[in-house]
Amino acid sequence: MKTFKLGADRVYFGEGAVKALAELPAHEKRAYIVMSGTVQEELGQLKTVTDVLESAGWTWRTNTDVEPEPCWDSVRRGVAEMLEFQPDWVIGFGGGSAMDAAKAMWVFYENPQYKTLEEVMPPAPLSLRERARVCCIATSAGTGSECTRAALIKDPIQRRKYSVREYTGRLIPDVAILDPTFSVTMPHGGTVACGMDALTHAIEAYVSNAANVFSDAQAMGAWVAGYRALARCASEPDNLSARADMLAASCLGGIAFTNGALGICHGIAHTFGATYNVPHGLANGVVLPYSISFNSMRSVVAAGRYEELANFVGRDDLEKTVLDLKSELGVPATMREVVPDEATFESDFEDLVAKVLSDVCTPANPVIVTERDARDLLRAVYYGR
Ligand SMILES: [Fe+2]
Repeated sequence: MKTFKLGADRVYFGEGAVKALAELPAHEKRAYIVMSGTVQEELGQLKTVTDVLESAGWTWRTNTDVEPEPCWDSVRRGVAEMLEFQPDWVIGFGGGSAMDAAKAMWVFYENPQYKTLEEVMPPAPLSLRERARVCCIATSAGTGSECTRAALIKDPIQRRKYSVREYTGRLIPDVAILDPTFSVTMPHGGTVACGMDALTHAIEAYVSNAANVFSDAQAMGAWVAGYRALARCASEPDNLSARADMLAASCLGGIAFTNGALGICHGIAHTFGATYNVPHGLANGVVLPYSISFNSMRSVVAAGRYEELANFVGRDDLEKTVLDLKSELGVPATMREVVPDEATFESDFEDLVAKVLSDVCTPANPVIVTERDARDLLRAVYYGR
């Protein structure tokens, strides 16, 4: 038997969706707003959020302390503030970093007995929604974290990423707000990188060994909407309709892999992110065609599934479709273009192989990844074929 949680309890979608904040059910009306840096503040977007909260009688505290790749230390500092402020809602406002950090802070706020990331790894029992609920306002279209069951947090000392997660879906936020007016300001590079992450979620979820009819439906929708919208978002950044479609694609992709899984592309992307701070979406954008090629050559079933995805958008070869899109969007062809220090790559190589093989996403790949495969793939991704 399988059990599914198909997204947040409520998703508010469309221009002006931020006004839904006024409807959040709360006794104390105390919101802890987690952002990654001060961008949302500088763009005036934080004021839009707090204006809605103020009109509904809320008090709030903001946290702009979170790094682009959220780290354990900033999560810990946020938890300490939350324990003092006692919010009854935690609001992750921004891209995946802000939303993941908010979700992770919430886990430790609810479970202050845990003091390390290792301690909250499954099957640790988690108490949730005793103190607060979670709302995520996505400003970028990529991770789908507003509707996923996990939060990725980096431990910079171990140069390792932890996936804080709970398999029954209780970490999925209560409320997701997808308002495209917040994403029109996203710069070109961020739009492209986040968009490639969303497309990777759709593609990997569709072929993963945990794929099922429910995740298939979400993955198909995410892929078709995202493929059609991403280039438009990149070339017409103010296009609210394209931005809304991309937010929907990102959210659907998140639901797809929450109810299915990911694969080797994410296993490699996480490894480059944790080791060299390569932004997650960019890393996936680089790795994606290599993973499609790897799986296609080893699995007739995966090759057929990829062909289905290509057919959904009027193409016949998914790898070629992705390569064409990458070239249109300016995504680097190899990781060497992103991490140019070959000597460092070579000296880290054994560590990179170990990280790929132990990544939480790798076992769900449709093809079993051997140590030899991991080595070959890492070199192909880095140097090109
Ligand atoms: Fe991702």
